[in-house]
Amino acid sequence: MNKTPELKKAVDYVRSISAFKAKIAIILGSGLGSFADSLDDKLKIPTEKIPNYPTSTVQGHDGQLVFGLSNAQPLIAVQGRTHSYEGYSLDRVSFIIRILNALGVSILIITNAAGGINPLFKPGDLMLIKDQINFMFDSPLRGSPSCGNSGFPDMSEPYSSKYFDLVQNVALKNNIHLISGTLFVSSGPSYETSSEVKMAYKLGADAVSMSTVPEVIVANHCGMDVIGISCITNMATGITQEPLNHEEVTLTAARTKKIFLTLTTGIIDQLYKYK
Ligand code: HPA
Repeated sequence: MNKTPELKKAVDYVRSISAFKAKIAIILGSGLGSFADSLDDKLKIPTEKIPNYPTSTVQGHDGQLVFGLSNAQPLIAVQGRTHSYEGYSLDRVSFIIRILNALGVSILIITNAAGGINPLFKPGDLMLIKDQINFMFDSPLRGSPSCGNSGFPDMSEPYSSKYFDLVQNVALKNNIHLISGTLFVSSGPSYETSSEVKMAYKLGADAVSMSTVPEVIVANHCGMDVIGISCITNMATGITQEPLNHEEVTLTAARTKKIFLTLTTGIIDQLYKYK
């Protein structure tokens, strides 16, 4: 892999603290950060100490890289993702993926809070992301240095279909109602208008969010496998007549804490058994 000087500095800093190795990492979305508390033998690295790491300013995003064990298996949990709406370029937002890749992570579980567009969804549902629509009108790869692979990564399977059954089986076994669908992502920070939500639905989207897409593009560019889980924290504008607010998003995410933990822990267990 081609490490840029800024990536090398970030990775060298992390490695000066710990030689921890994990093949799986999880990025925790709005209100889902408490998952990291469930890990054993934790080592926390505040992201503000990592050179060149963009700091998160959003409530519900703590800003720590957590090394720990999930049912005795090594895992890196990322609390405090950064967003394009905080003023960062998509390249900066997805810098964490390059760090994880350099640390040896090959499977990324990426999570987010999302508004439900599909009328069959309801707040509190978890959605397996099967595909994405990039409405950020930008790419994290534009002008950025290569991860070592082609500059034109294939995006026919941004989320690894080989793991769809594994995830659905974990949900089934644990009695979790898991829906699946396509994620539409725009830059935010304003929520969508009802006309924009109608458009997204017509384009095939089931849920809408303000994150994830840049990280998933970079993860694909790095050759990582990706599993995406959205927490449907609210119905999108126009699907609900209620005005949207961030507090509702974090409250609903907190309400799903238990099933989110069961699902993600189960996925990690199965991934370690997967051949
Ligand atoms: N729109 C965009 N992003 C979101 C939403 C939404 O309705 N809910 C949580 N994140």
